[in-house]
Amino acid sequence: MHTLHEIPALRERLAAHRRAGRTIGLVPTMGNLHDGHLALVDEARRRADVVVATIFVNPMQFGPGEDLDAYPRTLAEDQARLEAAGCELLFAPDEATLYPRGLAAQTRVSVPEVSEGLCGGARPGHFDGVATIVTMLFNLVQPDVACFGEKDYQQLAVIRRLVSDLHLPVEVVGVPIVRAADGLALSSRNGYLSEAQRAVAPRLQQTLVELRQALQAGEAPAPTLAAGLSRLREAGFAPDYLELRAADLGPVVETTREAVLLVAARLGPTRLIDNLSLTLP
Ligand code: PAJ
Repeated sequence: MHTLHEIPALRERLAAHRRAGRTIGLVPTMGNLHDGHLALVDEARRRADVVVATIFVNPMQFGPGEDLDAYPRTLAEDQARLEAAGCELLFAPDEATLYPRGLAAQTRVSVPEVSEGLCGGARPGHFDGVATIVTMLFNLVQPDVACFGEKDYQQLAVIRRLVSDLHLPVEVVGVPIVRAADGLALSSRNGYLSEAQRAVAPRLQQTLVELRQALQAGEAPAPTLAAGLSRLREAGFAPDYLELRAADLGPVVETTREAVLLVAARLGPTRLIDNLSLTLP
C-alpha cells in the first residue's frame, strides 16, 4: 500500500490507474481504524478495482469544546490494518494541504434540511464540515464509488443529498453497522470509555431494540420514546436526542412504513450514537 500526503502525488497515482481502465473506490475516514472501517474497505474492494482510503481528522466538523485535539491519531496501526485489508492507496494529508487559506477563508458546502435536527441540532455546523470535506475528497479522488457506514445515518443522508444536488458522478454505498459482540456499535470514541462506562454502553442499542419491538407491536411513538429516554437516563446516559423518523429522515406520517430510530447520548464526556431501522405496522 502506498501512503501519500500530497495532492500532486495522489493525482498522479490515480491518473495511472484510470489510464489502465481501473475503477476507483473511496473510503473516507478520520483514522483510528476498527472493524467498522474495514467493512467499508471490504465493500469498496467488492465494487471497485482500486481502493483508496483517506485519513484526515477534519477540524471543520468539530465544534468548539469538542474532542478535535483528543481524537486518537494512530497512523502506523491504521496503515497496517489497511494494507492487510487490501487497500491500495492511503491519502493522509495534513490540515495546511487541504485548507491552505485556513478554515475561516475556506469555501463551504452546506446541505439544508437533512443536516437540520438530530446530530445537526446538537452539533451546529458539523454537517457543513462533513459536506465540505467529503466534496473535496470526491474532487481529489474522483471515485466511481464511495462507501460510508450506516452507523452515521444522518451523515450518510447528507452525503447522498449533496451528491444528488450537485450532480456528482459518484455512487454512494451505505454499509451496515459493525457491532461488538455485546451489541455496542464500534466507534473510535469507544476508546474514551472507562471500564464501568463500557459495561453500560450496550444499553444504548438494547434500548433501541426494545423500542423497535414496542413500536412494531403497535404502541404509540410518543410515550414509547419518552419511556426510552427515561430508561437511558436511569442507565446513566445523558441523551441528546432519541427520535423516530422516516427512513429518509422526514417526519413519520400516517403512511410511513420504513422508519428509523436514532439516538445520541453521552456517557460521561463521551458522545455515542446509534440507530436501528424498522418497518412500522
Ligand atoms: P469516521 O468516524 O472515521 O468514520 C469513517 C466511516 O466509517 C464513516 O462512513 C462511518 O459511518 C464508518 N463507520 C464508523 N463506525 C462504523 C461501524 N461501527 N460500522 C460501520 N461503519 C462505521 O465519519 C467520519 O469519519 C467523518 O465524518 C468523514 C466521513 C471521514 C468526514 O470527515
